[in-house]
Amino acid sequence: MAHFSHNVHEDIKKVLLTEEQIRKRVAELGAQISEDYAGKELVVIFVLKGASIFFADLIRSIVVPIRIDSIAAASYGNTTKSSGTVRIEKDIETPIEGKHVLLVEDIIDTGLTLSYLKAYFERQKPASLRVITLLDKPVARKVQLIPDYNGFTVGNEFVVGYGLDYAQRFRNLPYIAIPKDYVWNDEEKE
Ligand code: PRP
Repeated sequence: MAHFSHNVHEDIKKVLLTEEQIRKRVAELGAQISEDYAGKELVVIFVLKGASIFFADLIRSIVVPIRIDSIAAASYGNTTKSSGTVRIEKDIETPIEGKHVLLVEDIIDTGLTLSYLKAYFERQKPASLRVITLLDKPVARKVQLIPDYNGFTVGNEFVVGYGLDYAQRFRNLPYIAIPKDYVWNDEEKE
């Protein structure tokens, strides 16, 4: 039996980052990127699905000319633990050789997804390749990876919202939060 409420906000135990905090930080990151890439063009690639909300907000605070693309890489099943395997399920369509590339993630956990994707894109010989993440969880790292831009550093708790899911739920929350305990026991995981 599903324990989820009809309103996703009711399944939340604690808000970690409010809409206002996120909005302010995303604007700062966009301004920093605009300054760093002044006079250049940028290919901004987001990793489906989690980074979609952050990406949509971030690119609207970047003022240099950009192209956009996306890639889907599966690293997790429906549990909170990484399976350690990465596979590309949808590739980019944009040629990136000689281009400045910014890879957008919602969270870096073990670092396995991004280290795989970084190596994958480096082989395509971009002029430069940088990584931005909204959230960094350095305590969970299994491979060394330091983002070039980071919104917020978080602890080891499992967080949802603003694109991040648990069992595909909670992506539509406008803030970052921790769900109530009963959510972890729900049997309707996909
Ligand atoms: C999440 C997140 C990152 C990855 C981070 O994606 O969006 O891509 O896991 O974990 P890692 O550092 O341990 O590799 P997920 O596979 O859950 O897909 P989603 O974005 O579609 O939710």
